[in-house]
Amino acid sequence: MLVETLSVFPDMFEVPMSTSIIGRARKKGILEFKAHNLRDWTHDKHRSTDDEPFGGGQGLLMTCPPIFEALDELVSTEPKPLVIFFTPTGQPFDQSMASELAGHERLLMVCGRYEGFDERVYTLADRCISLGDYVLTGGELAAMVVTDAVCRLLPGALGDEASAVDESFTQGLLEYPQYTRPAEYRGLTVPDVLLSGDHAKVREWRRKAAIEKTARLRPDLLDDAWLTDEERAFAEQLRDS
Ligand code: ADE
Repeated sequence: MLVETLSVFPDMFEVPMSTSIIGRARKKGILEFKAHNLRDWTHDKHRSTDDEPFGGGQGLLMTCPPIFEALDELVSTEPKPLVIFFTPTGQPFDQSMASELAGHERLLMVCGRYEGFDERVYTLADRCISLGDYVLTGGELAAMVVTDAVCRLLPGALGDEASAVDESFTQGLLEYPQYTRPAEYRGLTVPDVLLSGDHAKVREWRRKAAIEKTARLRPDLLDDAWLTDEERAFAEQLRDS
């Protein structure tokens, strides 16, 4: 997969996009990453990318010309990218969106700064994404978060393929609690079943524990979780208790 970003701070991506799983995925050729500098598509002495809003008001907006010109050029090459704009007014990012994006060959992520974009740039967007209901200083961190969540879903990016299947949100539930050695630490113990070696019992315990944890910490997720009728009855009982 090719991920490209368009931003006035391309250097921000250097360390996060070269470290750990993402760095390894790039070395293995699973992910290709390019950070473009939006200022390369400006024509004035100051290489400006922002201006005051018509009608007055606080702050500066990202202007149309450099973004349109950059996309004219970047979108003209094959494979055509999915063009993503980051903005708090976008669709909230979640695990199912990460899976969907992981199926694309090329993503082009446009990152705003200042008070946001001139509204007309959204005519270029295939997708507008928000990380959540808060305002960041720019879209670069959002692009890194989305790249991270997508990259780890690419085949071969994680050492153990199974680890992307069991985890939180994959079946609409939080992940079950996990423990490692020592089996007792400062009086804190591990559930006996996990030490029993009985794989069927462990699987059953984990499923139940995932439902319990979701009911306790994120009951809002239960409505859309993939549950059997029996599990749903159990979840409803937990929610009502
Ligand atoms: N840019 C500023 N705030 C943002 C947010 N919450 N999500 C995505 N992009 C943003």
